[in-house]
Amino acid sequence: MTSLLHPIPMNHRSHMEGFPRGWYCLAESDQVIADTLLPVSWLNQEFIVYRTASGVAQAADAYCPHLGAHLASHDGCIVDGQIVCPFHKWRYDAQTGRCASIPYAKMVPPVKLKLYPTREINGMVVVWYHPTGEAPDHEPFNSAVLDQGTWVLYNRRDWTTTCPFRDILENLFDTAHIVQLHNATEMPDLGSIERTDHGLKVDYAIDPDKSDQPLKRLECQFSGISLLVQHYEFVGAEALFVFSFTPIDNERFVQTTRLYLLDSGDPGHLDRIGKPFVERFVYEVDQDMAILNFKKHLPQPRLCDGDGPILRFREYANEFYR
Ligand code: FES
Ligand SMILES: [Fe+2]
Repeated sequence: MTSLLHPIPMNHRSHMEGFPRGWYCLAESDQVIADTLLPVSWLNQEFIVYRTASGVAQAADAYCPHLGAHLASHDGCIVDGQIVCPFHKWRYDAQTGRCASIPYAKMVPPVKLKLYPTREINGMVVVWYHPTGEAPDHEPFNSAVLDQGTWVLYNRRDWTTTCPFRDILENLFDTAHIVQLHNATEMPDLGSIERTDHGLKVDYAIDPDKSDQPLKRLECQFSGISLLVQHYEFVGAEALFVFSFTPIDNERFVQTTRLYLLDSGDPGHLDRIGKPFVERFVYEVDQDMAILNFKKHLPQPRLCDGDGPILRFREYANEFYR
């Protein structure tokens, strides 16, 4: 039978309006290639993402300030470090956004294409979003681990979800559901939770004496509530899990996960680590989404003493809505 369960509109399930400030992934690094405008729609906006002449990733408003053509529509392009609008062929300097030339004007007005603060970190191109356009108040976490040793991008996938945006990461702090929903044998101990310059650091408490425990260390680095890097250290293996959460609009956002494994030179070894990791992860995310897609954000949840540090996370998440 077809399910009768449907998510009702977000304004009936969450009192938070708009998107929290932060760094949002607009594209994967390998999607942003030289001499090409990549059109993307996120955060109720249209962006173009490209590389400047020196190869630096940059995001800009997709609409030409002249008469509003989408710069990547028709034959809009980037040539010799200039973005050429397809409509009346105004040209913009790709690095500064300044209008550089107009084929039919004697005087070029001081018009600027809107550029957004952009960074390229851990294989992603991320953009700064602030509801009233203020400058970045923090930098996103950039794991240096990926620059050390050789890593293989073992798996990348995404989920589009109708979960209230601020509840997705709360899931990690809701330790009771790990046992009750995912059937783990015991609740994880989040160990130490520490505020950092870019967000929050969680260093899981893991008992090294457990002989059946292949995981030795798990550190999570949050940037605001839109990016997360998890560093897993197993006996004889290491994994870096890079998450991004980017709203499409008020109703939906995309969770993208990228699993990097430290290359041991043995593809069989990567599969032995990567396959069960991905299978278990996908199974658990699908279980989560079956609930999160329909949930409501309760500002005053009725918690019990066995629940995890949900309120600690909420206190942190609130900072990015102010
Ligand atoms: S709308 Fe872009 S040049 Fe006219
Ligand atoms: Fe979960």
